[in-house]
Amino acid sequence: MSDTSNVKYKKYVLDDKLQYFKPHATKIENSFADEIYSSLNRDEKFISPKFFYDIKGSALFEKICLLPEYYPTRTEVSILKQLQSDLSSYLDDSFRLVELGSGASTKTRLILDVFEKFQRIEYFPIDISEILTESSEILLSEYDNLHITGIIDTYEGGLEFLKNYDTKKNLIIFLGSSFGNFSPKDGATFLKKINSTMKPGDLFLIGLDLVKDTTILESAYNDSAGVTAQFNLNVLSRINDELDADFDLSNFAHHSVYNEESQRIEMYLKSLVPQTAVISKSGVTIPLRKDELIHTEYSHKFQLSHLTLLFEDAGFKVNNTWCDENDHFSLTLLSKK
Ligand code: AVJ
Repeated sequence: MSDTSNVKYKKYVLDDKLQYFKPHATKIENSFADEIYSSLNRDEKFISPKFFYDIKGSALFEKICLLPEYYPTRTEVSILKQLQSDLSSYLDDSFRLVELGSGASTKTRLILDVFEKFQRIEYFPIDISEILTESSEILLSEYDNLHITGIIDTYEGGLEFLKNYDTKKNLIIFLGSSFGNFSPKDGATFLKKINSTMKPGDLFLIGLDLVKDTTILESAYNDSAGVTAQFNLNVLSRINDELDADFDLSNFAHHSVYNEESQRIEMYLKSLVPQTAVISKSGVTIPLRKDELIHTEYSHKFQLSHLTLLFEDAGFKVNNTWCDENDHFSLTLLSKK
């Protein structure tokens, strides 16, 4: 491995099957405080969705995945089960598995099963959440021939790490339609970033949620049990805990809506009263009007007929696309053009 990709990270070797890399602690804390400062100390307030995923937020997201209204997970799982044998024909034992946003690695098992016939499986989960370490331990107890190198960092950090790591081929997977968090412009940049990380012969499997009936979409992001609301509000309690802030959660409401023109779910935290919040570690006091919205997430939905153009513009060749019977969700296998 090249020295340059190493210096930013501290390496933790747990045993001969598990190691992970994590940026030095001060780097993470400073960037959280700084980013929150610049995204809330302005008129159009927002909080990046990557901050949802502390331990509690990751657990709440796993709960969302099991909700009856949240169709993406079970739909993607059903497609993954169908594509296993097709995918197998693209892979040999020179591949390792790399996952962007691995989380609890639940769906990963369906891909790992395809690798099981190989003598040794190498898995590189990349996730911003510490949940990665826990999920890795569990996976290791389930797969005898598995070796894990976890990278606890942003997607960009993880991709930089991967670039020039070695000559082994990578199957990179990016599931759950997390790509939908990006604006179209940032999404295009991100696809190019992934493309530039890839070697000829590498593969990239991406899961995307598709445009569908508004009521289906809106209930998926405003479930009757209120788990999505808890998930959204949790980012404020994370800011309270980690940045010594004093947001009063009872003065905020979860708000989500489908924007048909932009083909995306938009999620916000709505201030229910005029209020101020002090964020000590960011050194700032934030005033909020009654009904003012803090934007927390975009979840873009895609059209099957537009996918080829989206991917080709970023330098990819489409090898295969799989969908469910209702065309609610898609998985596309790409390689470098
Ligand atoms: C993890 C980004 C794919 O957008 O559907 C679920 C996150 N937010 N419910 C999505 C989420 C609210 C999820 N992604």
